[in-house]
Amino acid sequence: MQTIFITGATDGIGLALARLYAARGARLLLVGRRPLSELDLSFFSASNYVQVDLSLSDAQARIADFIVAQGIDAIGVAIHNAGLGYVGEPAVQPAESIAALVSVNLQAPVLLTQILLPHLRRGQGKLVFVSSVVAAMATPDYAVYTATKAALDGFARNLRIELGDEVPILVIHAGATQTGMHRKAGADLERMKSTRFPTAEAVAEQMIKAIDGTRTEATIGLGNRLLFGAGRLLGLWLDRLQVRMGR
Ligand SMILES: NC(=O)c1ccc[n+]([C@@H]2O[C@H](COP(=O)([O-])OP(=O)(O)OC[C@H]3O[C@@H](n4cnc5c(N)ncnc54)[C@H](OP(=O)(O)O)[C@@H]3O)[C@@H](O)[C@H]2O)c1
Repeated sequence: MQTIFITGATDGIGLALARLYAARGARLLLVGRRPLSELDLSFFSASNYVQVDLSLSDAQARIADFIVAQGIDAIGVAIHNAGLGYVGEPAVQPAESIAALVSVNLQAPVLLTQILLPHLRRGQGKLVFVSSVVAAMATPDYAVYTATKAALDGFARNLRIELGDEVPILVIHAGATQTGMHRKAGADLERMKSTRFPTAEAVAEQMIKAIDGTRTEATIGLGNRLLFGAGRLLGLWLDRLQVRMGR
């Protein structure tokens, strides 16, 4: 039975991943900030879920204790999925919001990686980072979010070289997905026409295919692959185009 570790498993893509892996018969280690009592108790339990706020300094120690308490030695797949956004100009973004984005989207995965690597080595496991297409392109009003995802890509890229074949690293670039993240970030759902985005379940299925495969990077969806490739190849030129077109 494969052990799968997922952060941000209480909603959206993380929850969809957890349910898909459960259907495969995996042993789950799930992390979220909500109390267990508020979750679906037919799925979550004290043996598969730990309530940890990843923006707090004790998060890593609490997760390490949870893994030990569950008697888990080897992990097959660890997915850094938890994330949050903020829509608006960074000039007026509250300092607490900036700190939360940096700590949950970037600092927590970096620190948690230290705890997870020994388990992944023992399980010949794979480390997965859930990034975004925005890592390759400018997205006005999402500057801090974009910066955290670009930095996460930078961390994963270096780690891949440092670890070699020891622990494979996969970075998944998701595109706009129909989850609660946009509402929580303060986005105008009608304006962004969020109902046309693919569901979390459809995206999670594509992610699991990528995790089962051997690629080191995967972008979900053809449109997103084109967008991501264009962002990498034509970055500064696209930035100038956005300025000229008034975004
Ligand atoms: N949705 C998109 O369009 C999109 C596009 C590209 C990439 N992504 C990435 O996909 C990943 C999953 O996002 P999603 O769309 O599924 O969003 P979501 O539905 O809001 O789920 C995010 C998960 O992270 C958890 N989380 C947030 N802050 C936390 C904290 N301080 N401590 C512990 N857990 C915390 C959330 O908990 P709560 O349930 O309590 O909120 C939730 O379980 C993120 O890394 C996001 O950046 C999303």
